[in-house]
Amino acid sequence: MSEAKTLPSAAREAMERLNAEAGGLNIWLRTQANAPAQRPWFKDGGLDPGGALAAGRVGANQMKALPHRWRWREIGPYLDRIAEIARTADVSPIEFADRQQFLLTNPGLGGRLQVAATIRCAVSIYLPGDVAPVHIHAPNASRTILSDNGGYTTIEGERCEATRGDLILTPNGTWHDHGNDGSTPVVWADILDFPLLEFLDCNWIDEDFPGEREGNARAQKPSHADGYSAKLYGAGGIVPAFVSHQRGIGHQTSPVFHYRGKAIRAALAALRDEAGDPYEGITLKFVNPATGASVFPTLDYSAQLLRPGEETRWKRETANVFYIVLEGQGATEIGGDSFDWEENDIFVVPNFRWRRHLNRGPKDAVLYAVSDLPLLEKIGQYRAQGRDPGDAVVQLVS
Ligand SMILES: [Fe+2]
Repeated sequence: MSEAKTLPSAAREAMERLNAEAGGLNIWLRTQANAPAQRPWFKDGGLDPGGALAAGRVGANQMKALPHRWRWREIGPYLDRIAEIARTADVSPIEFADRQQFLLTNPGLGGRLQVAATIRCAVSIYLPGDVAPVHIHAPNASRTILSDNGGYTTIEGERCEATRGDLILTPNGTWHDHGNDGSTPVVWADILDFPLLEFLDCNWIDEDFPGEREGNARAQKPSHADGYSAKLYGAGGIVPAFVSHQRGIGHQTSPVFHYRGKAIRAALAALRDEAGDPYEGITLKFVNPATGASVFPTLDYSAQLLRPGEETRWKRETANVFYIVLEGQGATEIGGDSFDWEENDIFVVPNFRWRRHLNRGPKDAVLYAVSDLPLLEKIGQYRAQGRDPGDAVVQLVS
C-alpha cells in the first residue's frame, strides 16, 4: 500500500462526513484499503513475522495473539490460593462455578479467555470430594494431567483414572464428568476449541444426562472398566471389528479417550535414538486409531522429545501451537524473543511466527503440543515453512 493512499484529501474527508450519517444505516463507505493482519508469506522478511494490526475501520476488532509463556512457579501458587478459599469459604468456588480453576489469557487478545484464536486453556484443581457434574457439549476438550495421581474423568461410561502425563479426551458430543475421590488435590490443564465455537456461534451444552447416575447423582455410573480405551485400541494397527468407532454423538473424534503418560513416555524413549525431524525432534502424534486422523477435527495433539543439546531448525506455520512442558529445561525462541521453560511451564507460539526449540538441560525434555493444524487443513489454509542450515526458506507445506 503506498503512503499517498492514506493521506487526507478532500474526497476522503467528504466520504468520512458521509460515513457519520451512513453509520446509522449499518453501512460503511470505504475509505481505507483492506489490511489483513498477516502479511506477507512468501517474501522472506527474516525472523520478523510481518504483519501488524490494521488501523481505523478495517482494523476494528482485529486482534493478534502474542507469543507468551506462563511460568508454573508464578501461576501454580494461585491453585493453592483457590484451594485455601475453598477450604474456608461459606460457598466453595466449585459450587458457584462448577470448577476451581484459572484460565490463561493471551496478552494480545484483549482479555478474552483464550491463548490463541482457536484454543482455550484452563488449569484446574480438584480437592478431595469435588465433582464437576455430568454434562455434554459442542467443544472438543482434553485434560493433560499434571499431578502425580488421583482424580478421574468418566466419558461415555468409561472411567479414566488420572496419572501425570495422561491425556484424557472428552470429544464433542460425549457425556462426561470429573472429580476427585482420592485424598490429595489433583491438578490438570483443560484445553478446548471453545473460542472457535464461540466465534462460529455454535456452542451448546446440556446437563440433563439420560443415563444412570451415582455419586450424589451428579456423576454418571461407569459402564466400562478403566482401561477400556486401551483394551479396544491399545494394540497398534489392530482395531476391534465388533464395535462402532463412534462413541457419543460427536463427529470425526477419536474413540480412544485415555492416552496414558507412561505409555507415551515409553514410546518416546524407544524412539530417542532415531534421527527425528529437524524442525521438531522426536514426535508422536495422537490419532484416531480407526481413521489415522487427528483425535479432534479441530485440534491435533502430539508429544515431542528433545535430546540434551538438541536445537531444532526454525519453522513457522499458519497454525497456532500451544505447549505444556512435561519434563526438562530449555527455551523456545520465537522471532527475536527467547522464552525459557521448565517443568509445567506453558507457552504459545502463535501462527506465522518463526520458532525453534532448544533443550538446554542435562536430560531429555518432553513437550506436549496442541495445534489447530487439522482445522487449517480442512479449510485449505495449512502452510508451513522452515529455514535450512543456510538460513534459506524452504516450503514444508505449500
Ligand atoms: Fe466439559
